[in-house]
Amino acid sequence: MALSQFLSELEALVTAAESAFQSAADAAALETARIEYLGAKSGRIKTVQKGLGGIDKTDKPVAGQRFNEVKARIESAFSAAQERCQNATAAAAVKAVSRKAEKSDAVIPPGAFDPSESPPGCRLHLGRLHPITQTIETLKEIMGRLGFSVADGPEIEDEWHNFQALNIPASHPARDPLENFYLSMAEETSGAGPMLLRSQTSTVQIRVMENRRPPVRIIALGRVYRPDTADATHFPMFHQIEGLLVDRQVTMADLKSVLRMFAMSYFGGEVHIRFRPSFFPFTEPSVEVDMQWHDRWIEMGGAGMVDPNVLRAVGYDPEEFSGFAFGIGIERVCMRRHNLTDIRELYKNDVRFLEQF
Ligand code: PHE
Repeated sequence: MALSQFLSELEALVTAAESAFQSAADAAALETARIEYLGAKSGRIKTVQKGLGGIDKTDKPVAGQRFNEVKARIESAFSAAQERCQNATAAAAVKAVSRKAEKSDAVIPPGAFDPSESPPGCRLHLGRLHPITQTIETLKEIMGRLGFSVADGPEIEDEWHNFQALNIPASHPARDPLENFYLSMAEETSGAGPMLLRSQTSTVQIRVMENRRPPVRIIALGRVYRPDTADATHFPMFHQIEGLLVDRQVTMADLKSVLRMFAMSYFGGEVHIRFRPSFFPFTEPSVEVDMQWHDRWIEMGGAGMVDPNVLRAVGYDPEEFSGFAFGIGIERVCMRRHNLTDIRELYKNDVRFLEQF
């Protein structure tokens, strides 16, 4: 092959390759161009290189040098195009993400598919709060009017707050591992010995009194856990409302009045309260509380005067202060008011049941 022909083929090749790389719109187009020009087996640069073999010996150095220059130019045109495509891809990704974000709070344009829209003639389905959440809100409101503020405590507790400070000794059957959900948590992790899911909201009494001086007037509402088999009246997780009032000269009469006001506000109308003697380690005396509504007596929970040992455990002087406490099952009052007979209904999440509240 004549040198002049070889050089002009090289010229044509570099012009075509540079323009192909520059005009590649994206990474896929660039890859197609790369294979066409720089492909290891049958790329056009390889084809031209083969022509070198037919060049006269005397012309070979010139031809070879020119070939190397052209090859370097084509390779650098490819690198530049590659960089351009990578930047474009990154920018497009950013744009796509921000477009998505814009779309998600954009108003749905007229005529577009709106999944929240009911077909014509169909009832509009609105969500609502779970009946237990509704009950909790109502109870907070009622007790708030009686001057009780809401206190909170952890659901994972140590033995001091769940038992010991509540005057429940280590030998008490309530502390049996089979009666509680103990956690297999390393003692170093908890820093406070064995931990369990709280079995009662009375834990919050201790947590509040440890951090406050009387007068104390709080309620605590939340989940408690006991390894009971689920049946119509038991569930391994349920809710309690705990009440605690500590001040000077508090008596059982105050307890009864507060519970009566509470019951009358929640159920509506005249509600009678009945105390039956009972025992709780953290109250003395202790009672079971029944409420009479619609001619039926219903057991609502436990109550009593805070035991002097509990007051001492939190650093209160039992000669100076006295108080009452009560613990009532939230499911129980909710079920009573709505005439439910099976606690499990509350936790099946069947919309046909839940939407009745
Ligand atoms: N914590 C008791 C229970 O879960 C209820 C209770 C609370 C009793 C406060 C007395 C005083 O059964």
